[in-house]
Amino acid sequence: MSTPLVSIIMGSSNDWEVMQQAARQLKDFGVAYDARVISAHRSPDLLFDYISEMSAQGVQCFIAGAGGAAHLAGVIAGKTILPVLGVPIPSKYLKGMDSLLSIVQMPKGIPVATFAIGEAGAANAGLFAISMLALNDGVLAQRLTAYREKQAVQIAHTVLPELS
Ligand code: RP5
Repeated sequence: MSTPLVSIIMGSSNDWEVMQQAARQLKDFGVAYDARVISAHRSPDLLFDYISEMSAQGVQCFIAGAGGAAHLAGVIAGKTILPVLGVPIPSKYLKGMDSLLSIVQMPKGIPVATFAIGEAGAANAGLFAISMLALNDGVLAQRLTAYREKQAVQIAHTVLPELS
């Protein structure tokens, strides 16, 4: 396995159903990643150790998914100057609005780039990480351009059904 360029962290194994969408994008584009379940409040020491380990290995950014009082992304951002991409996980009672607000409302000075709630947000966080890496990787940039062109072709060829 190659050295990871992106680290995906989630607060619970229950978040993987959503966060695997970020991993899927990275895998499809051939970007090496490491994915872990580490909680900011259940295992804070492990989180700090892991951030240091990944930073030393040369990861370029962190993607963090968490639900509820979702402080994971903010805590990671407080511990590293690498970009942190936050994905709000849908929650049982507040449907992820709690997660979204917890992640997006970072106080000035420690930014977290926040994505949409759920699968779309996780996939887009993966794609955003790819965009950042593509700044210094021509092959990746070509793959991303081809991916965008494929979407444009699909839209252009969409045929709406006839009304009965
Ligand atoms: C957060 O609490 C996790 O990110 C998860 O989304 C939420 C609930 O955790 P579980 O009770 O599902 O483990 O830490």
